[in-house]
Amino acid sequence: MTNNIYFIANWKMYGSTTSLNSLNKLINLSRLKKYKRARIIYFPPFTLIKDFVTKFKKTKISVGAQNCHQTENYGSFTGSISAKMLKDLGCNYVILGHSENRMSGETDFDINQKILSAINKNLKIIFCIGETIKEKRKKLTHHVLKKQINNGLKGVKNFKNIFIAYEPVWSIGTGIIPSKKDLENNVSKIKKLLTKKTKLKLQILYGGSVNSKNLSNLRNISGINGFLVGSASQNTKNFIDIIKKTII
Ligand code: PGA
Repeated sequence: MTNNIYFIANWKMYGSTTSLNSLNKLINLSRLKKYKRARIIYFPPFTLIKDFVTKFKKTKISVGAQNCHQTENYGSFTGSISAKMLKDLGCNYVILGHSENRMSGETDFDINQKILSAINKNLKIIFCIGETIKEKRKKLTHHVLKKQINNGLKGVKNFKNIFIAYEPVWSIGTGIIPSKKDLENNVSKIKKLLTKKTKLKLQILYGGSVNSKNLSNLRNISGINGFLVGSASQNTKNFIDIIKKTII
């Protein structure tokens, strides 16, 4: 793996104010010299962002949000949160294009508007892409990834704050991970597309059922700069295990 290794904890719609107690062990680990290369970023639900920012204040662990509205400042959008509000809370990152949001109606156009608004507010973006099982079976994976990248990054001029999370939809929450061959093949395809488009080397993360048991398979995948971890990150002991088994 490369120099910096990213460990993204996506807590989805889980967690309460009492969940923060378990994070002390992780803070201690993040201070050890051995784990200097670990870039740990937490994405709690909106309700806990402020608590997480406070908790991680004197650490190098960052905090992000799991989504934002496409309007970058303020507006009459009941129940929504803008990039400006996230920045104001102390967030440095936002996840955009997660398949759980795509599945509830978020389009490539919406995601593109959100990416543009997050860039304007200087947030770093974890841009999720990935094919469904149906698309995989129809051998449409590369076509889908290309479409999601091109549509999502339309009009983007500054790519330095963009990270790509390759998350096959069929792997999220299922316990199934892609084969080494498939994963390396898809990551290399994504890299080629991005280099052509951005002239930069963007960081690429893998997400989908990452846990401490399958890490031995995943840590050797070439071209990956880290992991987006969902359910296994909600238990701090498991998340620590993932970090320890990656940086050995
Ligand atoms: P999972 O979720 O690790 O629970 O599969 C990953 C994600 O949703 O990003």
